[in-house]
Amino acid sequence: MEFRFNVNEIFKQPIVQVGHTLIPQGFKGDRRALWDTLSKVTDIVNAMGSASATAQGLTKPITSADRLRNSENQNLYLLIEPNACNGKGAVTGLLKTGQKGLYVFDRDGHHYHVQAPCILDFYVHESRQRTGFGKTLFEHMLQKETVHPEKLAIDRPSDKFLGFLKKHYSLVDPIKQMNNYVVYDGFFPSVKEME
Ligand code: ACO
Repeated sequence: MEFRFNVNEIFKQPIVQVGHTLIPQGFKGDRRALWDTLSKVTDIVNAMGSASATAQGLTKPITSADRLRNSENQNLYLLIEPNACNGKGAVTGLLKTGQKGLYVFDRDGHHYHVQAPCILDFYVHESRQRTGFGKTLFEHMLQKETVHPEKLAIDRPSDKFLGFLKKHYSLVDPIKQMNNYVVYDGFFPSVKEME
């Protein structure tokens, strides 16, 4: 996705993490530069969040600058293409994770209350889907959060995302939960806390 400003002036790495302060890693500058940067990061997060919602057929974005500001336990990763748009850079992907307290059932109907790492939002720009960008972003997140894919709970996964998990991580036969999350068989052993 293209912006009216130079994305490379804000984000200096191909994958950046944006937290609740919305201040990019390594930011240097005075108060005015900070306000300018925050306004641009807000534009990027809102535009990418809206595009993700549209791609998923949702009426309201799951990701917005306001929501991120108010959630200290969420991580937003953005995938940047520094060379796109005549060197101005483009933002190509979004992945949001967060810790949630969830009630989940295993295949046998046993009930668990867990604090689990969750995938809350995932989007790659239409022009770049199915070219490996999603895998790059997802792998980065797995390393940063030192988590295995089967330990993740996924909030309302789309068919494309289920296909993605099957293809790249051999995750099949999802266990659908009443709260609209999905988990896989490997989710339970090390995170379970018996009720
Ligand atoms: N139809 C079916 N499967 C797809 C599609 C599609 N249009 N796009 C991606 N996939 C799956 C397939 O398994 C595909 O492998 P294949 O091309 O060999 O069939 C695999 O993903 C491709 O892997 P990547 O190229 O690494 O993934 P991509 O860059 O396309 O990113 C993503 C995956 C984020 C799901 C992307 O397709 C997308 O943004 N889709 C629209 C939005 C969406 O559905 N997001 C997930 C919502 S659920 C949630 O956020 C919790």
